[in-house]
Amino acid sequence: MARSRIAPAAAFPMRLVQVSQFNYRNLRLSVRWLLRSRESTNYTYNLTPLNHEHLAWFISSVSGRPVTEIRGYIEEIKTDTELHEHIRRATERSARRGIADTEFRPGRRIGWYALARALRPHHVVETGTDKGLGACILAAAMLRNGVGRVTTIDVNPDSGYLVSGSYASAVDHLIGDSANLLGQVGPVGMFIHDSLHTYEHEMAEFRAVAPHLSPDGPVLSDHARWSGALSDWAQSTGRQFLFFCEEPSDIWHPGNGIGVAFPARHA
Ligand SMILES: C[S@@+](CC[C@H](N)C(=O)[O-])C[C@H]1O[C@@H](n2cnc3c(N)ncnc32)[C@H](O)[C@@H]1O
Repeated sequence: MARSRIAPAAAFPMRLVQVSQFNYRNLRLSVRWLLRSRESTNYTYNLTPLNHEHLAWFISSVSGRPVTEIRGYIEEIKTDTELHEHIRRATERSARRGIADTEFRPGRRIGWYALARALRPHHVVETGTDKGLGACILAAAMLRNGVGRVTTIDVNPDSGYLVSGSYASAVDHLIGDSANLLGQVGPVGMFIHDSLHTYEHEMAEFRAVAPHLSPDGPVLSDHARWSGALSDWAQSTGRQFLFFCEEPSDIWHPGNGIGVAFPARHA
């Protein structure tokens, strides 16, 4: 049958079912999201349980810490009701509540948290604050560590409305262009690019932060799914590069990921 001329036509119904099942799931998620979510940018979502497990192994490889320890950090933030409640209340209070969701859906930022807990950096710098979800999550890690501060940088003076209460005590929020301000932030123990997602700007940030970075400090990019800037930078500086791909459980969006350049000794 497979050799006959009618084979493609005979297989067509089965292929149609396969592609329809895939698209039906995405259509169902799309309709649910359109009706339930208020977000129009920087979407938040949860990851599948298996994706959390893959994230634990990814962070374990990058940090050199046992996977059992990393699973503990992931569980810690998933069950941090104080943080979840803070995000809900701060969103409800904000002027942007009509275009933001109140539920805590951190996606890949769980990996940022676990890495900050595992490595206990003295100073984490995040470019691109937006609402401040990443900054709050990183601040929660610093508060649990009992040491360290977060600097978050954004061009938008209205950014960072979630950064309040005890979380604000661990965060310095700078307003301005990240590539210009990175020269002023002092020693950096962990860096996250999440601002203007062009190859040139991303590379300008890596070059600006490099002289201030601890020799063992990881450099993360929130744009590595779509850009080779971080892997190029890793190669030019003799670092390892790895990428974790998100698998969202509750949204039509294909997800983002975590690119990380880290010292070769952890490989
Ligand atoms: C994807 S959002 C950041 C999301 C945030 N890190 C989080 O965890 O939700 C990107 C942010 O980068 C900011 N941005 C754009 N260009 C920038 C620049 N040149 N310097 C600093 N921030 C910039 C935007 O205003 C926007 O708030």
